[in-house]
Amino acid sequence: MSASAERVTITPYPDGPLLVRGAAELQTEGGEPIEVTRRTVALCRCGLSTIKPFCDGTHKASGFRTDV
Ligand code: FES
Repeated sequence: MSASAERVTITPYPDGPLLVRGAAELQTEGGEPIEVTRRTVALCRCGLSTIKPFCDGTHKASGFRTDV
């Protein structure tokens, strides 16, 4: 499988971010590209990260909980 045909998977991390594996490209809501330098990125879903759209670990200190 070539790199461009690689599957992208998105996994919700319990009480934490969405782990995106294999993402070739991320965009802002306005369509601007967001640089991706890793094969796996963690996207914030608690809304408290200072480096959105990426997770910075703040969810732990805030006590963010996801539904089961
Ligand atoms: S999910 Fe980690 S800082 Fe928001």
